Amino acid sequence: MSNQTFTMIKPDATQKGYTGAILDQIIKAGFSIKAMKWTRLTKEQAGLFYDIHRERPFFGELVDFMSSGPIVAAVLEKENAVADFRTLIGATNPAQAAEGTIRKLYAASVGENAVHGSDSDENAIIEADFFFSKLERF
Ligand code: RTP
Ligand code: MG
Repeated sequence: MSNQTFTMIKPDATQKGYTGAILDQIIKAGFSIKAMKWTRLTKEQAGLFYDIHRERPFFGELVDFMSSGPIVAAVLEKENAVADFRTLIGATNPAQAAEGTIRKLYAASVGENAVHGSDSDENAIIEADFFFSKLERF
């Protein structure tokens, strides 16, 4: 599954009305949508999704933020998907993100940074399975 990655458009971006522009940029960059849903995480679900960060000082803030509004979850396909998508979204901190990247264009801060992108093929599979069954992928 090295040609697939998982993304979320985070609550800051959905609430500011950036969903359409971000999806357009993703599709124009050559990614195709394999699965997608508009949903909202509970605090418990956000904590499970970011379980790897449970001991980090920003974990509570991250869980509060990720459960604060609706998100778009999606599985994306493209050759070299994980790395190419991380390039498209830019650095975690938008102040350090390259010009034209999604975070540079739409993120407000390191915490509220508009989009998530999987950091490895292994995590892309885990994260896609968190949201989607086989019946929801086309
Ligand atoms: P993501 O997992 O959401 O795609 O982001 P990332 O790989 O670029 O960054 P990561 O280190 O995995 O951090 C996950 C999310 O936690 C929030 N964060 N806040 N306040 C802080 O210092 C801080 N550091 C990270 C961000 O929302 C980040 O995207
Ligand atoms: Mg990450």
